[in-house]
Amino acid sequence: MTDNRNILRIDASARKAGSSSRAMTDALVERLAPDNIVIRDLAVALPFVTENWVGANFTDEVERSDAQKAELAVSDTLVAELFAADILVIGTPIYNFGIPAALKAWIDMVARARKTFHYTANGPEGLLTGKKAYILVASGGTAIGSEIDFATGYLRHVLGFIGITDVTFIAADQQMVKGEAAVETANEIASEHVEILTKDAFSVMTKIKNAGAIFIGEYSSEPLGDYFAGPNHVLPTNGTAKFFSPLSVDAFYKRTSIISYSREALASAAEDIAEFAEAEGLTAHAKSIRVRFE
Ligand SMILES: Cc1cc2nc3c(=O)[nH]c(=O)nc-3n(C[C@H](O)[C@H](O)[C@H](O)COP(=O)(O)O)c2cc1C
Repeated sequence: MTDNRNILRIDASARKAGSSSRAMTDALVERLAPDNIVIRDLAVALPFVTENWVGANFTDEVERSDAQKAELAVSDTLVAELFAADILVIGTPIYNFGIPAALKAWIDMVARARKTFHYTANGPEGLLTGKKAYILVASGGTAIGSEIDFATGYLRHVLGFIGITDVTFIAADQQMVKGEAAVETANEIASEHVEILTKDAFSVMTKIKNAGAIFIGEYSSEPLGDYFAGPNHVLPTNGTAKFFSPLSVDAFYKRTSIISYSREALASAAEDIAEFAEAEGLTAHAKSIRVRFE
């Protein structure tokens, strides 16, 4: 890999809002501090391979008609973008256990015999050497590297086929499964502070039943609640959030319970009450109910 940081960024998620793979790609690109970046957003669909495209691709470059050159124009641009890049950053979801069709369309456009790979006496050889690729993968339930993950093995293979062998995968996989497990653990620990740094943090929040204080999103870290935002900082510790709330004005209210039954209402409950009292051995309590109906 060179020290140059010309980045080609590919986004394959159909979603713009709330996309984990795009969020990961944003974060990585920022960290890589590119000298130059080209962004290929595959939410804007690429053409698929057609009969004319195949015919044009198999025709020798010098013999191609203008129509055939036009047929290959998008593919030529995508291949040029790839050659110009030192670092390839692909953000992709798993769709139906594999890569999205949009990303497959991009691969079909850049895997070009005699341009990005060729055949030698020793077999096929990739021509896009000296590059580094990062692949950021998001999934709901499919574990990356599991036997039902048909995305990452394929991407590693096909990138290697065109010469890109230095590939790093970064996964935010099984988000639904891991998210539910995290909520369960948080409820079990019942901690003083819970910070939620996920997409849809407010909907995750509704599932946290046991916590002293919940901090939502990357700009609501714990000291904000301790010192500034306003809620009382005296919080239930050591798992007591299972049955206590943060200190509030409620803790200083003095309450009295008021009980008033009619004769009929007490008559209908009398035997139950007396039985409770007897079970506790408080026979006078039992008698004080029964005596009213003798
Ligand atoms: C059409 C479609 C198919 C999906 N198929 C799978 C799948 O097979 N396995 C899986 O774990 N998640 C699947 N998901 C969930 C996505 O991988 C998950 O929501 C991911 O975060 C989407 O990426 P994004 O957040 O960048 O849009 C699917 C989502 C969609 C929309």
